[in-house]
Amino acid sequence: IEDQYVLGIETSCDETAAAIVRNGREIVSNVVASQIESHKRFGGVVPEIASRHHVEQLTVVVEEAMEKAGLSFKELTAVAVTEGPGLVGALLVGVNAAKAIAYCHGLPLVGVHHIAGHIYANRLLTELKFPLMSLVVSGGHTELVYMEEHASFQVIGETLDDAAGEAYDKVARTLKLPYPGGPHIDRLAHEGEPVINLPRAWLGEGSYDFSFSGLKSAVINTVHNAAQKGISIRPEDLAASFQVSVVDVLVTKTERAVDEYGVKQLLLAGGVAANKGLRTALETRFSGRDDVELIIPPLSLCTDNAAMIAAAGSVMYEKGMLGNLKMNAHPGLEL
Ligand code: KG4
Ligand code: ZN
Repeated sequence: IEDQYVLGIETSCDETAAAIVRNGREIVSNVVASQIESHKRFGGVVPEIASRHHVEQLTVVVEEAMEKAGLSFKELTAVAVTEGPGLVGALLVGVNAAKAIAYCHGLPLVGVHHIAGHIYANRLLTELKFPLMSLVVSGGHTELVYMEEHASFQVIGETLDDAAGEAYDKVARTLKLPYPGGPHIDRLAHEGEPVINLPRAWLGEGSYDFSFSGLKSAVINTVHNAAQKGISIRPEDLAASFQVSVVDVLVTKTERAVDEYGVKQLLLAGGVAANKGLRTALETRFSGRDDVELIIPPLSLCTDNAAMIAAAGSVMYEKGMLGNLKMNAHPGLEL
């Protein structure tokens, strides 16, 4: 059988990325151009700036990915691109580039859901075993996704307000830390003690949904009240307390979902999967269990990249889930 090479393209937010994956499992090349420096001074991603950067960077990034793989476009099996969710202007850059490449070189086109990509990042480490559960935690999403087979996604719980990463970034902002704040809070948390009592939103017995806005507000109120009363709070302790609250809810609900659905694997996915507190807590909780395998991608595959899009795209291609040249960007696409 001939090797299958899929080019992945990702431009849904603030990383311009292209990658080539062989046979759905092996990274041949993986190029990411981050725009974080351009957005930092605004304290968040500015959509218009993101789109302009993608336009400038995408051709360069795709060429680099092709060059590193030593492939010509004609040798590709398919082109996979993130079609949503994300910033519409940013997504359009990737979708149009993918359509142009597919048209010019007569290649099949595959539209990939960004979260499917985050989940499939795990397949770059090991073969997936079904049924599985995936905890997806990123800047825009917090979801528990059950999969009975390839490319079949069932969201069993999701956030009702802020995503976990969003809460991290907002708390970081309150503590005057730079954007994106997740890694800064994570680092601070390890230097502090969780001595401040903060709420955990369980949302009723049996619920797999999440809510982080109450916790975020509690942190902001704690900071403001302390300032008003002239009490000093160690930011390290606040970060540690916040992190313990987030991790406690994520890990407890995930463990319950794993047990109820009787899955063979638990996959961690999304930018917040880079969080050391979360990784350690999951490892501790699941290390003694031989009925379920815990998979945690390396940091570079947790945050946005195109190898994950190519990995998901490969499976979709195999299943005949193809797009066409009428493909559009879908900012609110459902999994
Ligand atoms: O998946 P991602 O790269 O982009 C989205 O699709 O949203 O996730 C970015 C999010 C940001 O909110 C960032 O603060 C968070 O992931 N993040 C972290 C850590 N590293 C990145 N949050 C907590 N701890 C970390 N170490
Ligand atoms: Zn993402």
